[in-house]
Amino acid sequence: TKLPTLMFRTPAEADRHVALVVESLIRENNSAGVPTVLGLPTGSTPIGVYRELIRLHKEEDLDFSQVITFNLDEYFPMQPDSIHSYNRWMRANFFDHVNIPEENIHIPRGDIPVEEIDAFCEEYERQIEKAGGIQLQLLGIGRTGHIAFNEPGSSRNSLTRGVTLDPQTRRDAASSFFGAENVPHHAVTMGVGTILSARKIILMALGEHKASIVRKAVEGEVTEEVTASFLQKHP
Ligand code: PGA
Repeated sequence: TKLPTLMFRTPAEADRHVALVVESLIRENNSAGVPTVLGLPTGSTPIGVYRELIRLHKEEDLDFSQVITFNLDEYFPMQPDSIHSYNRWMRANFFDHVNIPEENIHIPRGDIPVEEIDAFCEEYERQIEKAGGIQLQLLGIGRTGHIAFNEPGSSRNSLTRGVTLDPQTRRDAASSFFGAENVPHHAVTMGVGTILSARKIILMALGEHKASIVRKAVEGEVTEEVTASFLQKHP
């Protein structure tokens, strides 16, 4: 079966559509008195959705007080207050502008000793489970075809874990790190299995440069094809 795919003329229309899905879920859950568990991405793709959700909070009383969030990933090593951290990015672009309680926000940590990563990741999975699982996962897609930092070759059942970034991914991040050599080689990321266990997933891709990678993903070719090129590069 083909994945349902919606196309929009402008990014603003896509942002509005996705924000509306998030808004409806939150309002429905708020009326029922149950929490809303969201999986959240960083990057250039979701910025417009966050802006629209902030507007809905400020102008249309969208209440985030029962929202629980789990972010997809963080560089490793990375201090949470670094200008490069996804933790800081999420606060600047979203959390600082809505009323999600601090204790409901979960972001993988890049500031723990390397030997504690496995235990941290197991605990992250436990917290998702304890929250009742992710109801709606928002996602971007990277040039390598990665979702979160699951680079080609990641297994279908992979869970939250420490990973090595693809050289292409590090090159793509170079401009925000003032040079590829400053981009960390590692990250902590939710796994493919973690993401696929969300009840609903919306993968957003904006711009012509994402068209071919999405076409492959929708046609189900992306995993094999990108994995093959990855294996050629990293035999
Ligand atoms: P982008 O990143 O939203 O900045 O294009 C997407 C990704 O790498 O997952």
